[in-house]
Amino acid sequence: MDDNWTDPGYIDPVALRNTMGAFPTGVTVITTTTGGTTPVGLTVSSFTSVSLKPPLLLVCVARTAGSLPAFRVGKHMAVNVLGRDQESVARLFAGRSEDRFAGLDYSSSANGSPLLAGTSAWVSGFVERIYDAGDHVILLTHIEEMQRNDKSPLLYHSGTMHDWNEAALTYEI
Ligand SMILES: Cc1cc2nc3c(=O)[nH]c(=O)nc-3n(C[C@H](O)[C@H](O)[C@H](O)COP(=O)(O)O)c2cc1C
Repeated sequence: MDDNWTDPGYIDPVALRNTMGAFPTGVTVITTTTGGTTPVGLTVSSFTSVSLKPPLLLVCVARTAGSLPAFRVGKHMAVNVLGRDQESVARLFAGRSEDRFAGLDYSSSANGSPLLAGTSAWVSGFVERIYDAGDHVILLTHIEEMQRNDKSPLLYHSGTMHDWNEAALTYEI
């Protein structure tokens, strides 16, 4: 539908993004390969744990993302949870660099997904389903492997990345 300020149900996308920015997240780089070996990745904050049994995660990717065609149903992929000192990596994988992996330290998971060095954690699996969701798609991924590292994460809030400052409240879930 066309943008229409006279429609009482109209939600301004900029105001919506500002409001959603009140909710803090981490920052990830989702990765896969094309042609079996060429690594592909983009920065994504819309990452959520979905289910423990079966183990599922989701990420939301803009339809306009140039990397999206590389993430097809059945493809292996990884979610790299960036560490507190990896803001430059987040910017690199959100920017216009031709080869985002050039000069970066990375390896492969058992299923062949690119894993960035220096992350707080990574989770890897295969794309189980892709759902249409407006100007984004939802990738639902079945988790096969994972690793938690001893490193604090990079945070994202109100359009700004933040270093984790270790200030913790006492309530534990
Ligand atoms: C902190 C941060 C979070 C982002 N989160 C998302 C996201 O959740 N989904 C998305 O599609 N793009 C997200 N982006 C934007 C993409 O990283 C950016 O559009 C990138 O250039 C896409 O690369 P591509 O066009 O090569 O696929 C985010 C960018 C930043 C800096």
